[in-house]
Amino acid sequence: MNELLMIVLAYLIGSIPTSVWVSRYFFNIDIREYGSGNAGATNTYRVLGPKWGTIVMVTDMLKGMLAVKLALLLPDYADSDIRFTNLQIGLGLAAVVGHIFPIWADFRGGKGVATLFGLVVGISPWTALSCSGVFLLVLFLTRFVSLSSILASVAFPIFILVVFNVDNNIYRVFAIAVALMVVLTHQKNIGRLLKGNESKVPILKHRDR
Ligand code: G3P
Repeated sequence: MNELLMIVLAYLIGSIPTSVWVSRYFFNIDIREYGSGNAGATNTYRVLGPKWGTIVMVTDMLKGMLAVKLALLLPDYADSDIRFTNLQIGLGLAAVVGHIFPIWADFRGGKGVATLFGLVVGISPWTALSCSGVFLLVLFLTRFVSLSSILASVAFPIFILVVFNVDNNIYRVFAIAVALMVVLTHQKNIGRLLKGNESKVPILKHRDR
């Protein structure tokens, strides 16, 4: 299989619209018409409860991890760490684009955070762990998932460029671009946060539908 086919496959994997299918096939609704209107794990948690929110979150993360692992099917890349990482970035990014613009759900998907997280887990687990630390700290302090996602994503290039000082320019550019992309996909959340009407996610008090 060549690189282009692999990228297309990664996009198709990322396109699997977990929250849309769960809401449609188990609840006969379209998650995009409820809550924040986002086709993601947070909104699934908000509308359908923790069990379904967790299922969507794990599946969406696995999409990113699986896309990155597709690189193992191209043995030519294995002899260069940097080329291999760059291929993984390309595949993971294709999955994130698929998640945001899914071919299987009218190109109206989520904000890319869980799939992006799966990608980072697949490429650099320590960075993923550091970003999750930021995410959980902000979530614990504010209970805004959106703010936690934004700050964890902004922390991502800081970890790559400053803390771990990764010596790969493509990875550096990717980290900055990804932080900007998450800010862009959260524009409505930022508006609500500034106006003071962003919804907090109930933790441990929420029931499944
Ligand atoms: O990952 C999406 C999350 O950061 C925000 O989701 O539903 O509150 O817009 P939502």
